[in-house]
Amino acid sequence: MTVSRATLVRPARAVRGALRVPPDKSISHRYALFAALADGPTTITAYSTGADCQSTLGVLEALGVSVTRTATATGQDVRVVGRPAGFAPPAGPLDCGNSGTTMRLVSGLVASQPFSSVLIGDASLSARPMRRVMTPLAAMGAQLTAGDGGRPPLHVTGAPLHGITHTPEVPSAQIKSAVLLAGLRASGTTTVREPAPTRDHTERGLTAFGVAVTRTADGDISVEGGARLTGGLSLAVPGDPSATAFLAVAAAGLPGSQIDIEDVGLNPTRVALFDVLRRAGADVSTDLTGDWHGEPVGRVRIATGERLDVVVAPAEVPLLIDELPALAALATFGGSIVVTGAAELRVKESDRISALVAGLRAMGADVDEFPDGFAVRGSRRLTGGVVDARHDHRLAMSFAVAALGATHPTEIHGAEVAAVSFPGFFAVLDGLRA
Ligand code: S3P
Repeated sequence: MTVSRATLVRPARAVRGALRVPPDKSISHRYALFAALADGPTTITAYSTGADCQSTLGVLEALGVSVTRTATATGQDVRVVGRPAGFAPPAGPLDCGNSGTTMRLVSGLVASQPFSSVLIGDASLSARPMRRVMTPLAAMGAQLTAGDGGRPPLHVTGAPLHGITHTPEVPSAQIKSAVLLAGLRASGTTTVREPAPTRDHTERGLTAFGVAVTRTADGDISVEGGARLTGGLSLAVPGDPSATAFLAVAAAGLPGSQIDIEDVGLNPTRVALFDVLRRAGADVSTDLTGDWHGEPVGRVRIATGERLDVVVAPAEVPLLIDELPALAALATFGGSIVVTGAAELRVKESDRISALVAGLRAMGADVDEFPDGFAVRGSRRLTGGVVDARHDHRLAMSFAVAALGATHPTEIHGAEVAAVSFPGFFAVLDGLRA
C-alpha cells in the first residue's frame, strides 16, 4: 500500500442538491491545443482547473505559447495566443504530469515542428503505452522513440509530414486526435478510420475553429494539410459528463436521493452513461438547453430507482470507458453489473480492472475479475475498509461513492488524485449529503 495522506469517507443516508460539475477535461485540452495553432488569440471561459488540463497549458507555455490564466468565482478563464507559424523549441522536457491525453495529443502537435521534444510524465503515465501514437506519426514522417515497451519518456523529432490513412489498433479518441493534429500540418489528406466511434470533440472543436473536417458514414474522418485555424474565438467549456458520473451514481444508489446538474455536456458520444444508469433502474432525465460552439449542453436530473442487473456489452465499451469504474461502484448498492470487452481499462491511469476489484473487495464487495472486465454483485452491503487510489482519479472517486453505501467509514489512500479531473470533489460530495 502506498503511504500517503488518507481521506475518510463516511456512509451517507442520501444525496440531494443542485450544482454544476467541473468543466469538461477532454474539451478543455482540445480548445487549448487548437488555440495554440490559431491565427490570433482565443479566450476559453470555464477552462478545467484539473491538474491534467493545467499540464496541457504548461506544455504549451514550454513551446513558447502565451497563456494567460484568470481566476473567476467558479474556476478559471484562459487566453491563448496562437503561434500558427510554429512553436519555439522547448528548453527542457515537456511535463505531461498524469495526463495521457496531453502526451498523446501533444505528440501529434510537435511531430511537424523542426525540433526535438521529450515528453515525460508521472509514475502512472510513465507506465502507459505510446506505440499507438508512435506508429502513425512515424508513418507520416516524424521520428519517435520511447522506453521499454513503448512507454514514456517519448522522444519526438519533428519533420515535414505527409498525410496517411490510419486505422487505430484500438478505438481511441486520443489516437484519432493525435493523428488529425499532425494532419493539420502535413501535406495532403490525413484520414483516421475508426474501428468504432469514440468521443468526437476533436471533430467538433476543429470545425468551431473553421477547419473543414470530413466525416463519412463508415467512420472515416479527414482533414487537409495546411488548414488555418480561426483566431479571435471566445469559447466556453460545458460541464464534464464523466465527472457527473460519480455524483450520478451516488444519487442512483442511495435511496431518497435526487441531484440536478446544469450546463452538462450532452454530446451524443459522451452520454452512454445515462442510458446504462436507466437500465440499472435509476430515474434519469436529460434536457438539451443549448449548443456551445457545436457541443450540445443541457441539464440532467438523477434520482434513485430500483436496483437492476445490467450487462455492458463489448460494443458499448468505447463510449463508456471512463464511466466503468463509477458504474462498478453503482452495483455495490444492489443489482449487479457485468462488463466484458474492456481490456483497455488495464492501461488507463492504473490497471483499472485489478485496482477496482482489489479496492471494492477490500470494502466487502462481491466481485469477480476477468481478463477483459469484471462483475460486481450488490447482494450484500459493503462494510467499508482501507483502499488505495493507485494514482488514479477515477478510482479515488469511485471508491468514495461506493463508501457512501457502506456500514462503516472507508479510508482512501491517495484520494487527493481526484483533483486531476475534479478539484474539490470531496467537498462537493459532502455538500450533497442529506
Ligand atoms: C480521452 C480519451 C479516452 C479517455 C480519456 C480522455 C480524450 O482515452 O479514456 O480519459 O480526451 O481523448 P482513449 O482515447 O485512450 O480511449
